[in-house]
Amino acid sequence: MAKKVILDVDPGIDDALALCMALFDPRLEVVAVTAVGGNVSPQLATRNVRAIVEQLDPPRLPRLGAASEPDQGLPVDSRHLFGVDGLGDAGLEVAELLAPHPSEKIICDEIRAAPEEVTIVALGPLTNIARAFHRDPELPSLVGRIVMMGGTVAGPGNVTPAAEFNIFCDPLSARAVFRSRTTKTLVPLDVTNRLVLGFDVLSQLPEETTRVGRLVRKILPPAFRAFRQESALEGIHVHDSITLVAVTNPELFVTQEMAGDVEVRGELTMGATVFDRRRVPAWRHNMEVAVDMDVHKVAQQILRNLAHAGKSTEGL
Ligand code: BDR
Ligand code: CA
Repeated sequence: MAKKVILDVDPGIDDALALCMALFDPRLEVVAVTAVGGNVSPQLATRNVRAIVEQLDPPRLPRLGAASEPDQGLPVDSRHLFGVDGLGDAGLEVAELLAPHPSEKIICDEIRAAPEEVTIVALGPLTNIARAFHRDPELPSLVGRIVMMGGTVAGPGNVTPAAEFNIFCDPLSARAVFRSRTTKTLVPLDVTNRLVLGFDVLSQLPEETTRVGRLVRKILPPAFRAFRQESALEGIHVHDSITLVAVTNPELFVTQEMAGDVEVRGELTMGATVFDRRRVPAWRHNMEVAVDMDVHKVAQQILRNLAHAGKSTEGL
């Protein structure tokens, strides 16, 4: 039976790629795609989610959720990386701008509709999840699992020396989710940074004659240019796609139970994730953390998923 998932995303090229993979994966039933501000503003994230879903036109249309302003505003501007529209300036059209329900309401509805069955795949800041938990305090125990991309265990951050982007954007929400009773898996930067998709990927993308091919061929080349300019990297990181693979193919990952929290203040360390890794920890384990993955097989899985998504949208 397909696994019910809510994809909580801040597209973002990385998130858009994960959406391409998830919406056509027969192992997943995407019940909702909820937008959150992060790589782009809440308004743009909401628009991008709709534009991507409209462009891909998957066989089963998920419910869509609108992002709202985070309490503290967004501290980071990613336009230098993902372009003004967050999608490499792909110029995607949106047919109708309906006013969708707020993301946190959609999350509450869908979890309540299928208690303990839904996995939330959180690929952006944890604003929506924390708000959903605040709105419905019983929700954390009704979620099947949250699989989150974010944080670091031992490595450096990517937005400050200490903090990873998703956690840095909304540390208070991240702390609320980390401390919640929900069953959690974290896929941190230490692991996702190990995979760099090289330029050769561009020749393996689905054809332009497919809907998925048309989208990824628009958004990926600007990502390669940005990573080269910003990080002198001859390839791109795909943190969010890797996290999706952790949902569909957990056997490709090594995980460990850990006790983690988030630094919510600090001139240099705000948004850093802190794990009690002392020989005799005082904190209680509260999440499973990915500590390693089969890099080659994860890369193959991403390409396989994209190829399948391409085939599913052929000539339409
Ligand atoms: C995360 O931050 C965003 O830039 C990406 O979409 C990913 O979710 C990586 O730190
Ligand atoms: Ca993201």
